[in-house]
Amino acid sequence: MSEVLALKYRPQEFSEVVGQDRTVEQLQSALENGTLGHALLFCGTRGTGKTTVARIVAWELNKKYEATVTWEKLQHLVITEVDAASNTGVDNVREIIENIKYCVQGHRVVILDEAHMLSKNAFNALLKTLEEPPKDVTFILVTTEPNKLIPTVVSRCQKYEFHDVDLETLKAHYRTIAELEKLPVSEEGLTQLALAAEGSVRDGLTLLQTSGEAVNDSSKEYFNLVGAIYNQDVVTALDVVQELRKANEPRTIIQMLEKWFYWASLESFGMKTPIRNYFSESAASNFDLGRLQEAFKTCLEIERNFTATPNSKIVLDMGVIKLCL
Ligand SMILES: Nc1ncnc2c1ncn2[C@@H]1O[C@H](COP(=O)(O)OP(=O)(O)OP(=O)(O)O)[C@@H](O)[C@H]1O
Ligand SMILES: [Mg+2]
Repeated sequence: MSEVLALKYRPQEFSEVVGQDRTVEQLQSALENGTLGHALLFCGTRGTGKTTVARIVAWELNKKYEATVTWEKLQHLVITEVDAASNTGVDNVREIIENIKYCVQGHRVVILDEAHMLSKNAFNALLKTLEEPPKDVTFILVTTEPNKLIPTVVSRCQKYEFHDVDLETLKAHYRTIAELEKLPVSEEGLTQLALAAEGSVRDGLTLLQTSGEAVNDSSKEYFNLVGAIYNQDVVTALDVVQELRKANEPRTIIQMLEKWFYWASLESFGMKTPIRNYFSESAASNFDLGRLQEAFKTCLEIERNFTATPNSKIVLDMGVIKLCL
């Protein structure tokens, strides 16, 4: 149901990444020795840290600019994340190559997620750039299915493997997070969770969240935000958003709102969700499903807008205003 815990506990530095010791060591020493390739290939199972580590690499490559670039700004300025699954064609690749020429200050990192989905022509368009990327640009190709990549691409990349995380490591990780979140999970429960995760850190976190029925600490604020949106009270809504932004990324706020609208929809049918304590059953049965659907759709639209401009605060505020209309 939810990825909130997974997002909240996304490692921001190498030391926080679990179960990928060798890969992390290799990357760290390549970074230290200046032997990191211009094109990297991250392969391995879903939810084992590929995207996370790609972002950390971007961060490491930009540390020397730290004084001017904060982590939040950096994400927009120097990291280009492309979902190759929905940008499969030659034109998409050309556009990326074109865009990276206009380099901002810093070391640009292009993360190509689901790289195996690129068309053959798209790969061919990419080959030359992979071989000789512009100065201060690193490509990170990410894939769960490296065997679907053409050999000429693979041979141009430094390869890093992400492994299924072992049971004990997963258990320890979930124990830490359950404690931090004050979720009552027994040792037996942790074992079950780690087993069900089948090597994927994220899958287990998602399970922990749904089974623990955890609503994060900001739930009161989200409740107020949903109420303000419902009452078309723009000023209050923006106030709450400002409060939420102290602890949450703009995108996370919208994703959490999506969940609230989703949960509220389920509640209107009498189904039990993590927000049960916030509404009486009779109030829930009166929710306007049409408006919830509309609000949900608007959230998806706002989410897409985050990729259109680097100024996520504006996207968030304008999006919330639209939700209130
Ligand atoms: N090795 C790890 N150490 C700590 N947390 C992890 C690790 N791998 C995944 N996670 C958790 O799972 C979330 C998703 O991880 P990430 O996006 O890096 O996975 P991925 O390998 O890119 O998955 P996919 O193949 O589905 O894109 C992270 O935000 C984090 O909470
Ligand atoms: Mg990923």
